[in-house]
Amino acid sequence: MVNNLVEVRNFEKSYGERKVVDKLNFTVADGEIVGMLGPNGAGKSTTIRMLTGIEACDAGELFFDGMTVKKDRKSIKMQIGLVPQDIAVYGDMSAYDNVKFFCSLYGFRGKELERRVQEALEFVALWDRRKDKPGKFSGGMKRRLNIACSIAHSPKLLIMDEPTVGIDPQSRNYILEAIKTLNRRGTAVIYVSHYMEEIEALCNRILIMDQGQLKVEEDKDALKERYKEEGCQTLEDIFLKITGTALRDEEE
Ligand SMILES: Nc1ncnc2c1ncn2[C@@H]1O[C@H](COP(=O)(O)OP(=O)(O)OP(=O)(O)O)[C@@H](O)[C@H]1O
Ligand SMILES: [Mg+2]
Repeated sequence: MVNNLVEVRNFEKSYGERKVVDKLNFTVADGEIVGMLGPNGAGKSTTIRMLTGIEACDAGELFFDGMTVKKDRKSIKMQIGLVPQDIAVYGDMSAYDNVKFFCSLYGFRGKELERRVQEALEFVALWDRRKDKPGKFSGGMKRRLNIACSIAHSPKLLIMDEPTVGIDPQSRNYILEAIKTLNRRGTAVIYVSHYMEEIEALCNRILIMDQGQLKVEEDKDALKERYKEEGCQTLEDIFLKITGTALRDEEE
């Protein structure tokens, strides 16, 4: 039996009068890649910020690998890696020092820390550029560095919020392959994207959010099969049918 690594129960969030996440429930099983889709402003990034503990929920609970946020907030944080929608690295610190800084936040020191930093930088093919500052990097390289920062502590769950927006095809392929490799090694992934080909290539299961609510939580193939009868041939068609919004092809 596959265990649930993550269980989100009744997440809620308002900004002022505006409810942006509304009684959201979903699960992520051990070792799966879940694709999270939704139109702009659906509440995806807000949900992810609450999941990672960057932002408090107004209501709701999170269970993670048998732990609850109320009791085990710190232990849960240790097991999650986040690549945020907006790149979060320090432009004036070397690539090496960036990864070292983030990994040290998880308590690693000395040789173990150095080993992890090297492994993470090698994994994203930036070891040769370790002495350079990301201020000089291309978008794709910055994103890869951000990934190194988010995986050096070996999280059980990696969350990526639109990691391939605005980068070159080579870096994009690189990132997709990296996710597959991490997943084969046992990391569960929540992958937020507007790109259907990426969701097709990576994900076993699909979450579709719209206006703060979860509209779909289903195995990808089962979802496609179910919507065939309604004339939807592709995930794009299904997305349009459910949200009334076309998926955007390119970042506006
Ligand atoms: N800090 C904030 N203060 C006020 N409103 C916010 C804040 N963060 C997000 N919002 C609003 O909450 C709603 C959901 O935003 P969120 O960023 O979660 O959407 P998203 O699904 O990630 O969209 P996108 O696909 O554009 O990244 C939007 O209406 C947004 O304007
Ligand atoms: Mg977002």
